Formats: sequence, C-alpha cells, structure tokens
Amino acid sequence: MKTICLIPGDGVGGEVVPAAAEAVRTLGLDLDFVTAEAGFACFEACGSALPDATLDLARRADAVLFGATSSPSTVVQGYRSPILALRRQFDLYANLRPVFSLPGDYSRPGVDLLIVRENSEGLYSGRERREGDTAIAERVITRQGSERIMRVAMEQALGRSRVRGRPPLVTIVHKANVLKLTDGLFRECALEVARDFPEVQLSELLVDAAAMKLVKSPETFDVLVTTNLFGDILSDEASALVGGLGVAPSANLGSGTPVFEPVHGSAPDIAGKGVANPVGALLSAAMLLETLGEPEAGARLRAAVIEALAAGVRTADLGGTATTAQFTREVCGRLE
Ligand code: NAI
Ligand code: MG
Repeated sequence: MKTICLIPGDGVGGEVVPAAAEAVRTLGLDLDFVTAEAGFACFEACGSALPDATLDLARRADAVLFGATSSPSTVVQGYRSPILALRRQFDLYANLRPVFSLPGDYSRPGVDLLIVRENSEGLYSGRERREGDTAIAERVITRQGSERIMRVAMEQALGRSRVRGRPPLVTIVHKANVLKLTDGLFRECALEVARDFPEVQLSELLVDAAAMKLVKSPETFDVLVTTNLFGDILSDEASALVGGLGVAPSANLGSGTPVFEPVHGSAPDIAGKGVANPVGALLSAAMLLETLGEPEAGARLRAAVIEALAAGVRTADLGGTATTAQFTREVCGRLE
C-alpha cells in the first residue's frame, strides 16, 4: 500500500486539498492517507511553519499533496515558507507546470505546453542581505543545477512527443544578454545537454520576449525550460491563458518524496467562503497518481475534471456559480 501525505496548509489550501483527496479516495485505489500541518497558522500556533513531525510524515510517504501556505511580505523572525523548505529538504529541483486548454470560453483553445522550472537555486537561493539602504539578492546558478533541469526538460519533451505524436520542441528561456554570467552559464549548460538529444528540436528566447509570445501565440510552445524566478512568473502568466491560477497544477520532483501542489497560493481574499476552485489541486492529484505508477487512475481523474467543466459546472473564477463542494461532487460522481 502506498501512502499519500496531505498538507493542506493555510487559506484555500484547507479547502482544495480535502476536495482532491476525496476524488482520489473515490477511485478506490490501495492508498493510505495521512494529514500533516504546515504554514503560517501552524507557525503561530506551535512556533514552526514546517514541524519535524510533518517533515517525518512527508519523508516516509510515497507522495505529498500540498495546498498552499501564507507567507508575509515582511521579515518574520523564524518563519520561512514551508514549500521552499520542503523543496530544499527533499532536493526537489524540478518543478513541472503543465498548461493546457480546458473546455469553456474562459480558456483559449490550442494551448498544450509544459513549463519546466528550476526549483532549487536562482534568485530563490535564500542569499539575501541588507546593508543599510542597499539590499542585495544573490542569484546562484550552477552547472549541476542547470544540466539536471535541462535533462528533465528533454526527457519530458520526448515523453510528450510519444503520447501526442508530434515532434518534441524545447525552448530555453533566459536573459543571458544582460545576465551574462548567471544566465550565460544556464544557457551554455542547456545547449551542451541538448547535444545528447538530437531528436529534440531546440529554440531559445529571452524571457521578456517569451512573456510576450506566451500571450500572442501560446499554441506554438511545447516545453519551456527556465530558471527559478522566471519559471514562477511565466507559469502564473501562462495559467491565465486557460482560466487562471485556480486551474493550474504542478509537480515538484527530485531526490526525496515528490510534492504535488496547485500553483496558486492561499487566496486570503476568498478563503473560508467555500468557493475556491479545486481544479488545480485535482489536476495535481492526477499528476501524483501518474508519478506513483497509476497512470490510468490519473487519466480518469483528469478526464472527470474536464467532463465536469465541459458540462458547465464551474466555480466563480471561471464565470460559474458552483461551490468547491459542488464541483468536487460532479467530479466524484463521474468516478464512482
Ligand atoms: P494567490 O494565488 O493566493 O491568489 C491570487 C489570486 O488568484 C486571488 O485573486 C485569488 O482569489 C485567486 N485564486 C487563487 N487560487 C484560487 C482558487 N483555487 N480558486 C479561485 N481563485 C483563486 O496569490 P497571492 O494573493 O499573491 O498570495 C496570497 C498568499 O499565498 C501569500 O501569502 C503568498 O505568499 C502565498 N502563496 C503561497 C504559495 C504556495 O504555498 N505555494 C504560492 C503563491 C502564493
Ligand atoms: Mg508562484
């Protein structure tokens, strides 16, 4: 039996993770669930945003389904975002963020891309300091980090090509014209790794041009590979093409327990109202099942979500009136 560790976290995380867990349970697989605490409320209650007990449960589990946590935009002594800590602890260096068209006029047609975001270094290395009225963030790029994320992008492109029957295309996104040393190294490593994959078509774009092209002609992309902050920003942007943050799933993969999470945050503006869109969490759960060796269950779950959306059952962010519970019931009804 495999174990899934649920970490709902703060805000709407506590609404969408139970929804996704209910749908996974409905599939009737041989899975065990444990629930663990993390986040800002947890920090205020017990002094730690990611207690050791949570880390232990996550380490022993086969996969984590994470919701979202709230991180203040000011320095709070002792607080560090638990998702960043989890990614660091488990060396989850690859963040996969698929973006694909969904049924309904809230989504553009013809989009089917994957953002492969480097998840362990770049501007999120935690090397920030303040010297009086000057603040400095160090952007760390390494050969090892760049090569391994490029390999993931290439393998993902090949896998997608097999399923979709179209040639694999990887776009390297960087800003090496300005960040000549850091993104220069990232680009150099990516081009070197690409030589081992002659069957993959390669292109490169500066990040600002990539941001424009994602809006103008998103259907021309397959896999995009980029550094940490650029990938964070571009994936929120890309989600808007197909309905926004409420529908965007992601996977964090690397050495330790894989962590799956919707791209969105704790959404304090709608938390507690029962109206959060569970689609991002549901599609993250589908990725989790695929990674755990249950590809058919993952595909069934994804199909049920798409069918429910096609039937016009949608939460408010997609222009509908369904609550989180109503949408989840629609999905579970299709899985029974
Ligand atoms: P956010 O993703 O929480 O919300 C942005 C907008 O999207 C809001 O208007 C929100 O209502 C909407 N939205 C988000 N999820 C939704 C859903 N499931 N259904 C419908 N609408 C949804 O980002 P924001 O407002 O920038 O950050 C809020 C908090 O979340 C902050 O404390 C931030 O640090 C944290 N955050 C945590 C993340 C994580 O745990 N991985 C990721 C991003 C932000
Ligand atoms: Mg983000």
